[in-house]
Amino acid sequence: MIKKGQTIIEVKNLNKIFKIPKKSKNLSWMKKRLSWVYREWEDKVAVKNIDLTIKSGEILGYLGPNGAGKSTTIKMLTGILHPTSGEIKVLGGLSPFDDRNEYTQNIGVVFGQRSILAYDIAVKDSFRLFKAIYGLSEEFYQERVKYLVEMLGIDEFFETPYRMLSLGEKMRCELAASFLHKPQIVFLDEPTIGLDANAKITIRSFLKEINEKENVTIMITTHDMDDIEELCSRIVLIDKGEVAYSGSLDKFKQKYSNWKRINIHFKEITKPKKFESLKKKFEFNLKSKNNCTFKVPLKENLGSFLSELIGCVDLIDLSITEPKLENIVAKMYDKVKESKESTEEK
Ligand SMILES: Nc1ncnc2c1ncn2[C@@H]1O[C@H](COP(=O)(O)OP(=O)(O)OP(=O)(O)O)[C@@H](O)[C@H]1O
Ligand SMILES: [Mg+2]
Repeated sequence: MIKKGQTIIEVKNLNKIFKIPKKSKNLSWMKKRLSWVYREWEDKVAVKNIDLTIKSGEILGYLGPNGAGKSTTIKMLTGILHPTSGEIKVLGGLSPFDDRNEYTQNIGVVFGQRSILAYDIAVKDSFRLFKAIYGLSEEFYQERVKYLVEMLGIDEFFETPYRMLSLGEKMRCELAASFLHKPQIVFLDEPTIGLDANAKITIRSFLKEINEKENVTIMITTHDMDDIEELCSRIVLIDKGEVAYSGSLDKFKQKYSNWKRINIHFKEITKPKKFESLKKKFEFNLKSKNNCTFKVPLKENLGSFLSELIGCVDLIDLSITEPKLENIVAKMYDKVKESKESTEEK
């Protein structure tokens, strides 16, 4: 058993190249005619030189735009796909692909777009099947199911065929199933895709609790930045198969978000001259007669700005907002794109 804080997943120089059929428009007339027997292939680089270290007990957010290579990485980390090159060492030396039998006993997986539960039978029966696959004792199974069913609120439809459930109900069952055998690592590929706010909240609080209680390591991909803010202290951001950022969420925000917005509600302006000078210095927006915002760059001393501001109005209320994580991430993708384009041009 790997202790909390020890390395549980180590990835070095991981690559995955798919062979895809060459687009027929690039082929000669003759080759087009013969394409059903003769086909030219080209390389599609899905994952490029990825290095990753994940510590036991960590919840790692694995982010990136569509097609960045997130699912491909998860598939290699779970032993579904064989890497083209590179090294993956998990749980103290196992290789996901070569040691699949031993490895799968210790991991759980959820693919938000694909089910691990049987479509036509009751959820409970699928769970029984997993009990047999994982060789769980009746006593362990009963206790575990009770805990998971309660935590994820799936009692009501536990005996209903999977196909009859709503998207949110299905996902809660999928999650319960992936944690059934008390795995040491769980990979979640878009577990909140298409879910409503309530289902997302249930899932996030379940993941938080089980991570703390059982020290289970979680790697999660999502396009929902609230998942990341709620769950992850560290993120890895990939773009076109390559790591674009790896580090703490806080540092990421500090590095890429460079302003705060100060929103104030006031009775009146007591020192108009001072107020005017602040308006000139910072981006100002009058929302209504007694409500306005100032956008303050982080390089400014926020404390002295606030004391100046408070000194020139009769304040009722004040709040501070930061750029949304999803906007920072989107900006970051653009930056990566720009820098790649400019190096390509050179
Ligand atoms: N089996 C495959 N054969 C050929 N190309 C593939 C295969 N699987 C994935 N790809 C390609 O590899 C790239 C990465 O795909 P991947 O599914 O890993 O992206 P993703 O980051 O998970 O995106 P999304 O956010 O849309 O789920 C894409 O360009 C995709 O078309
Ligand atoms: Mg994906």
